[in-house]
Amino acid sequence: MRLQKYLAHAGVASRRKAGELIAAGRVRVNGRPVRELGVTVDERDRVEVDGAGAVRPNAFRYLVTHKPIHMVTTMRDPQGRRTVASLIPKGTPRVVPVGRLDFDTSGVLLLTNDGDLAHVLTHPCFGVEKTYRAVVRGRLAAADVQALLAGIRLDEGGAAPAKVRVVSTSGGYSKLDMTIHEGRNRQVRRMLEATEHPVVSLVRLRFGPISLGDLPIGAVRDATEREVRALRVIASQAGRAVAEGGS
Ligand code: URA
Repeated sequence: MRLQKYLAHAGVASRRKAGELIAAGRVRVNGRPVRELGVTVDERDRVEVDGAGAVRPNAFRYLVTHKPIHMVTTMRDPQGRRTVASLIPKGTPRVVPVGRLDFDTSGVLLLTNDGDLAHVLTHPCFGVEKTYRAVVRGRLAAADVQALLAGIRLDEGGAAPAKVRVVSTSGGYSKLDMTIHEGRNRQVRRMLEATEHPVVSLVRLRFGPISLGDLPIGAVRDATEREVRALRVIASQAGRAVAEGGS
């Protein structure tokens, strides 16, 4: 793998920062300083930064969390709000969230240090299917469901169709499951707002092959091998779609 990627997987720095370390001559491979960015290395090579002993890439980690509300889906927040980084156990390699949930949305969130997988799964050309459980104000009528199925026209243009299942209606509220495959900003809230049923609460139940299940709020688990295999299949399809989409 490329030296920058190797350093990023070792938790030394992001790929961009690793490039800067290499260009500054601070990285040695098998005792020799390397300044070129294209160099590739494997597990037999000894890679050192600032002469501080060999660094080794971590195996990929795929963490599944149940994000609570009132938390931002970033690893750091300049405004000092709680971030999803606070859910990650100490000693975990540097992971990043795959996509994002709003501050006031809870539910299943994947974090990984597999940067390539994270990149393709969040690329706008390709959307993983996501299912949300929404509680909205008012009784959702058949015409509203039809409008959601057909695709709601959002301000930025383009119809955003959804699969919809009404779970229950009572006391002036409706509960529904909505499945979308795009990742537009506040998409579910805006689609339901357009049918004049503002969202009261929103929980993501599923992200592609990963279901929330009974994971407690704030808890973290490793994705199962089966989930990781399914993610990789989706990512390889996404990779092809992204390449065909021209970026
Ligand atoms: N749609 C929304 O409106 N909010 C989310 O957090 C995710 C999808």
